[in-house]
Amino acid sequence: MKRFSQPNVLIFDSGVGGLSVFQEIKKLLPTLNYYYVFDNEAYPYGELLQETLIARVNALVIKMTQQFAIDLVVIACNTASTIVLPSLRSALAVPVVGVVPAIKPASLLASRAVGLIATPATVTRQYTHDLIRDFVKEKEVELLGSTRLVDIAEEKLRGRAIDLQELSDILQPMRNKVDVAVLGCTHFPLIKEEIQQVLGEEIALVDSGQAIARRVQALLPALEAWQNGQTWRIFSTAQPWEEQALNRSVMDMGFNPIEVYPLPEISDR
Ligand code: DGL
Repeated sequence: MKRFSQPNVLIFDSGVGGLSVFQEIKKLLPTLNYYYVFDNEAYPYGELLQETLIARVNALVIKMTQQFAIDLVVIACNTASTIVLPSLRSALAVPVVGVVPAIKPASLLASRAVGLIATPATVTRQYTHDLIRDFVKEKEVELLGSTRLVDIAEEKLRGRAIDLQELSDILQPMRNKVDVAVLGCTHFPLIKEEIQQVLGEEIALVDSGQAIARRVQALLPALEAWQNGQTWRIFSTAQPWEEQALNRSVMDMGFNPIEVYPLPEISDR
């Protein structure tokens, strides 16, 4: 059967980080119908209990997938993807693409040591340690978990200036140790330029954005007849702070102003 309307894609994160993934997907697939939702009521996910995180992501993503006839879901959050994908995939009939730290490509690129910059939760997850065990051979791994870095990306999208000295202090453990660092949180590509500036060109930065975009493209039917011109919608589970400033950034990316979408009731099943 021929399909003339664009697929509906839902992108999820705890905050603005998933917008870095959205931008990569949009480069490859500019005419899809995008829905973006961020669970800012429970931000930061890097400090949330696992059970709470799983229950919230499931409730929100399942409800929105039904309501907006979503064809493909992207969990654009490393912290969530390392634990929610199995339950979400068993609950949904549509493909669910996750984002996990790009440890494997980073390890192939590194000659000295690999750094992982992520949330406090991601650096402790079993999933992450399995990736390191499976893909990093005979190289040191330096782990850095920081919520402050996530906050800095949130602030940047609200137009605040980044304090490069603060950034440099946070990233100090990477310096003179690693030659490749993984941006293992989707917030970090939003401040990649500044991270690169303080770490210097001798440390290569790797993230998963482009690989995710290619995966999304591979999963969607290759049709040329999609029409352009839909408005993209962005939702948050609570009123965002400095909403006006944030709206300016998201509207620049092609979204309507942010709409509040409260978390659906969580069932115990
Ligand atoms: N953007 C998220 C990630 O990729 C998490 C940020 C947070 O809420 O801690 O891990």
